[in-house]
Amino acid sequence: FILKWLWRGTFLTALGGIAYLGHGIYIMRHPDDQPDPDPSKKTLVILGTGWGAVSLLKKLDTENYNVIVVSPRNYFLFTPLLPSCTTGTIEHRSIMEPIRNFLRHKKAAVKFYEAEATKIDYEKKVVYINDESEIKGEISSTEVPFDMLVVGVGAENATFGIPGVREHGLFLKEVGDAQAIRKRIMDCCETATFKDQKPDEIKRLLHMVVVGGGPTGVEFAGELQDFFNSDLKKWIPDIKDNFHVTLVEALPNVLPMFSKQLIDYTEKTFKEETITIRTKTMVKNVTDKYIEAESTGPDGKKQLERIPYGLLVWATGNALRPVVKDLMSQIPAQKDSRRGLAVNEYLVVKGTENIWAVGDCAVANYAPTAQVASQEGNFLARLFNQMAKTEEIDQELKKLSEAQEKAPNKESRDKVFNEIKELQKRLRRVKRMGPFEYSHQGSLAYIGSEKAVADISWLTGNFATGGTLTYFFWRSAYLSMCFSTRNRILVVMDWIKAKMFGRDVSRE
Ligand code: FAD
Ligand code: NAI
Repeated sequence: FILKWLWRGTFLTALGGIAYLGHGIYIMRHPDDQPDPDPSKKTLVILGTGWGAVSLLKKLDTENYNVIVVSPRNYFLFTPLLPSCTTGTIEHRSIMEPIRNFLRHKKAAVKFYEAEATKIDYEKKVVYINDESEIKGEISSTEVPFDMLVVGVGAENATFGIPGVREHGLFLKEVGDAQAIRKRIMDCCETATFKDQKPDEIKRLLHMVVVGGGPTGVEFAGELQDFFNSDLKKWIPDIKDNFHVTLVEALPNVLPMFSKQLIDYTEKTFKEETITIRTKTMVKNVTDKYIEAESTGPDGKKQLERIPYGLLVWATGNALRPVVKDLMSQIPAQKDSRRGLAVNEYLVVKGTENIWAVGDCAVANYAPTAQVASQEGNFLARLFNQMAKTEEIDQELKKLSEAQEKAPNKESRDKVFNEIKELQKRLRRVKRMGPFEYSHQGSLAYIGSEKAVADISWLTGNFATGGTLTYFFWRSAYLSMCFSTRNRILVVMDWIKAKMFGRDVSRE
């Protein structure tokens, strides 16, 4: 009897779950009609569709403003899983969310222009935008006026002006970069096995060099070695003895933002996996076939050496985008800022009143991470929702004061007076919003061979851990952080597919 009821309970719960999921999918596929943006409201222009901008849009009540989004990318990209796309562990579309789908579910419609902001004129309150896509209409550049502006354009790849990097290196920031890397890996492998290829050339072609020992470089090196261990060497046994991954880092160790214990653990794991780490080695020049690097020996002597490569991935951090540099040059208060737009504790760009900045293009004394960008975006959404409420209350108060003056007798004057007092109390409550405070949840990085490292902020302090269990934690943490249920399902399916059938080694 109990078993029968248990069965029924489980069946009904499963049915409820399916119905709930089905309803969610139906809502997702059939968005409600949206009221058009209200041009009489203040125009809020948001530049970018990355972590900062999308976190802001997620929580922003779009009924309060005339919202316009401008970005050359009509999707959000979940960057933490991008290194997995370079080897086909995850397909790139699984970590992309179309911005159009997302914006169609907002309360009031939001205008989206797929374009790059080329200049922000701070005085005139105008953003100049350019359609940089392949297909251009008769009009491909125009201007967008704003009352309020949020700059969330992220950063570009730093090269420090080192010759040859842009021409010969590949970066790892966008979907296109991951696709180019995936193609180049396979091209190197196939070219290395070309008939009569010379041994030295085979060695060069199969030497995969990663410059930059920050988390991007480390995660990519780990993914690449995994690809070789689980798939490449099985399907192309000829490359087995020559395929090699080298990580080059200018500082004395990799992952400088992690605790010493985890740095040692990562270096030990790489050694076991036969990934070479070349620390204290600074790349100075790049040609099409080799890099020139200055290394410091144990005796402190410096030497210049040539390191031949087939694939070069350049991951040495962030640099300012030209549009940000230009804006900074217009504002005297920004003259001492070097790494991005200096902002105050409410993320207002210093020296302005109506421009805010979030994420990698803002300097608020935090590391340029997705975690920071998304918390900043959330904060701005609350701030803008609150500002709209404040304005609404202010207007109501104005109307009530007028009504109070015109009130015919004491009784109605007292009534209005009480209403005003109530509203003023509400206004004080609404205005009581503190400045932005970042809450660090910890740092996580995949290091290959199904191991990850994590520095987690715990109640009493920091908790450092590394290994296979941490890898499962890494997976579940990033899965839960994916943008949508659709992304989560696709990522899980990709993981299962890679485990069951291996990664795809076709070149395209
Ligand atoms: P982005 O997310 O880069 O978005 C910038 C947006 O602006 C994009 O939509 C872009 O198209 C748009 N844009 C660019 N130029 C213009 C223009 N001129 N006009 C208008 N729009 C423009 N952080 C973590 O915390 N955890 C991780 O695990 C992690 N993993 C990462 C892995 C990789 C491979 C990389 C590259 C980064 C990783 N990061 C991680 C860092 C994180 O991705 C960034 O800190 C985060 O993306 C910054 O958010 P953002 O909104 O400032 O910029
Ligand atoms: P990074 O700035 O963290 O690291 C770049 C590294 O390149 C530095 O260690 C630097 O010493 C080295 N370098 C610079 N020039 C060099 C040269 N000429 N030769 C050799 N080495 C050189 O950059 P990264 O890894 O691209 O990360 C950018 C941001 O994104 C960081 O804030 C990082 O925390 C974040 N991120 C976070 C991840 C995570 O939490 N898992 C994953 C990827 C990025």
